[in-house]
Amino acid sequence: MEHFIAGLPKLELHLHIEGTLEPELMFALGQRNGVTLPWPDVASLRAAYEFDCLQSFLDLYYLGASVLVTEQDFFDLTWAYLERCAADKVVHVEIFFDPQTHTARGIAFETVLGGIERALQEAERVFGISWRLIMSFLRHLSEEAAFATLAEASPFISRIHGFGLDSSELGNPPGKFARVFARCRELGLPVVAHAGEEGPAAYIWQTIRELEVKRIDHGVRCSEDPELVSYLADTRLPLTVCPLSNVRLKVFDEMAHHNVLTLLEQGLCVTVNSDDPAYFGGYLTANFQALVQALGASREQLCRLCLNAVEASWLSLTDKVRLTRDIRQHAALHGVILH
Ligand code: HPA
Ligand code: ZN
Repeated sequence: MEHFIAGLPKLELHLHIEGTLEPELMFALGQRNGVTLPWPDVASLRAAYEFDCLQSFLDLYYLGASVLVTEQDFFDLTWAYLERCAADKVVHVEIFFDPQTHTARGIAFETVLGGIERALQEAERVFGISWRLIMSFLRHLSEEAAFATLAEASPFISRIHGFGLDSSELGNPPGKFARVFARCRELGLPVVAHAGEEGPAAYIWQTIRELEVKRIDHGVRCSEDPELVSYLADTRLPLTVCPLSNVRLKVFDEMAHHNVLTLLEQGLCVTVNSDDPAYFGGYLTANFQALVQALGASREQLCRLCLNAVEASWLSLTDKVRLTRDIRQHAALHGVILH
């Protein structure tokens, strides 16, 4: 099975680039930039990765991101992730970045975008990995701050492929950003939002009705509303699910209780993703392995999850046809029958 997962062409649609900052790189960049971290070494930082909810993780995640200062830092961060993608046969990535985490510290928008984009372009050339870039708003900040960030991004819109919404969900319902997202859609770009991670099913409905999202990030609490589950099955509005993240942040108490395969069998367009892999104990391959170990996911189910990711991606039709063929070929090679 390990061999099967390793060779399966995989897509990642829910990945915060700041969440790929491994402790070793965090310390190296801290040293390079003269940023002092509140832990003496890598081991004690790793020991701090015990989260009891989303907020306890976010506090550490924003602290970690403070070592990112120069364009080269953002390049190095992104490149390290993409090297890993190449080794794990991740063939397409749609990456979130959080400009407000950096612009609030006086880092220019262009520095952040430039470094991430340069690594993506290089990885496309060297590894053949295709990519899209999603600029995400921090929902714990105000609507006004989001509008200001959108204005700051406006010279660079042609280099961005969509908009997202992340950070502290509880108390920050999607509707808070309805006007910002209306502006984003007027720019002609697709929008997505985190919803139904810690927040209720009602927040998922809000992203659909008030933000008009093209995908929902997480969305696992849809199970609490049968009408919503039917709607998601009928429309095939995709969910980008992150199993290891959900267990680490106590959305599910253990992997054996995760609902992603149930949702798959109910006909939803669910996909598997790693969210913030440096903090949650594993990259995309580890997420697939966890589904096999804890939930007994079959090879056929793993293939369907990848085919769903092709469907949910923002790739061209030509690329979707090619990746669908590649996944089906891999399945056939291993005697897996797909309907
Ligand atoms: N949820 C919300 N905000 C985030 C996450 C997440 O899982 N990761 C990074 N920002
Ligand atoms: Zn996320």
